[in-house]
Amino acid sequence: MQFIDLKSRHQLIGDKINSRIQKVLNHGQFILGPEVNELEEKLTQYTGCRHCVTVSSGTDSLLIALMALEVGAGDEVITVPYTWISTAEVISLLGAKPIFVDIRPDTWNMDETQLEAAITDRTKAIIPVSIYGQCPDMDVINSIAKKYNLAVIEDAAQSFGATYNGKKSCNLSTIGCTSFFPSKPLGCYGDGGALFTNDDEIAEKFRWIRVHGQERKHHHPILGINGRMDTIQAAILLEILGVFPDEVQKRKNLGLTYSEGLANLSDLETPCIGEHNTSVYAQYTILSVQREQIQQTLKGKDIPSVAYYSVPLHLQPVFHNLGHKAGDFPIAERVANQCLSLPMSPYLCNQDLLKVINAIKLAKQH
Ligand SMILES: Cc1ncc(COP(=O)(O)O)c(C=O)c1O
Repeated sequence: MQFIDLKSRHQLIGDKINSRIQKVLNHGQFILGPEVNELEEKLTQYTGCRHCVTVSSGTDSLLIALMALEVGAGDEVITVPYTWISTAEVISLLGAKPIFVDIRPDTWNMDETQLEAAITDRTKAIIPVSIYGQCPDMDVINSIAKKYNLAVIEDAAQSFGATYNGKKSCNLSTIGCTSFFPSKPLGCYGDGGALFTNDDEIAEKFRWIRVHGQERKHHHPILGINGRMDTIQAAILLEILGVFPDEVQKRKNLGLTYSEGLANLSDLETPCIGEHNTSVYAQYTILSVQREQIQQTLKGKDIPSVAYYSVPLHLQPVFHNLGHKAGDFPIAERVANQCLSLPMSPYLCNQDLLKVINAIKLAKQH
């Protein structure tokens, strides 16, 4: 059993993908070719957001978002300590300071009740993360941001395809950022990402920044980066988008089956999906104080599992200068100590899923 099965989809649509790639090889516009525009249009239709600007990775989408908001030295950006390093890394790269707010014990997303206390006159933006495929309580976060005139960037690297109050992830705040890293719900065959906004001026800045701050040929009003998505990756994503709605449905069904199978086991928490949310289960993650025991039993049966973010960001050596210590963000630390992600991909068959559930039940009997 694979932790994330990328082969099954390729078996299904590999011929279409190959012919899309061949088309790019034939026209030769490898940088910002027509497929990039076509993909951006399809992604605006899918999310309902006015603008989509594709970029080189999810990390670069976050970096470009902060650059467009002119975040720099002396600024503070609020985010969570339980996430992939990119979310806070880009803040520090620009000379700003990441300010952490703990996560909720149920959804493992930003605890919006602690957000207001973290705002200072240096705060420039808030980056809530849609962890494991479920959005945080964006209405509450947006209304606090509005009160203080702050931008909200949804780190939707793990939640493309999810919904919050019926609206698509990436179209819930000032800016939405996502990743098309291969293992993500909408993954390409290399690195890729996208930015979303309904603001025309911000969208224009995204387009400049992804090409070295260039407004028109040889005219650079602002600093930028080399942040474009490859035409070949856009071509691949165009084909994957065709099966994506079906994959989202499959993910939801698998998440439900996992949660039913693992319900009511002592010392084991399954994902808690808010009633206004649908999750795409970028990962299906459980919490247990018996994590090591469960992981060993799974390993013994050739079932892969991963403990993501087992050291939260405030305890990472690179952020030592922020002066945090163990105990500062107790919920993030508990989740980091107990989390375990199980095999998840749209083409995971029921038989394999049952095998995982039974192995966990067995682990808990010993
Ligand atoms: C929450 C989160 N933010 C940002 C990223 C960065 O995306 P990428 O790997 O495409 O740079 C990831 C991906 O790993 C992620 O999970």
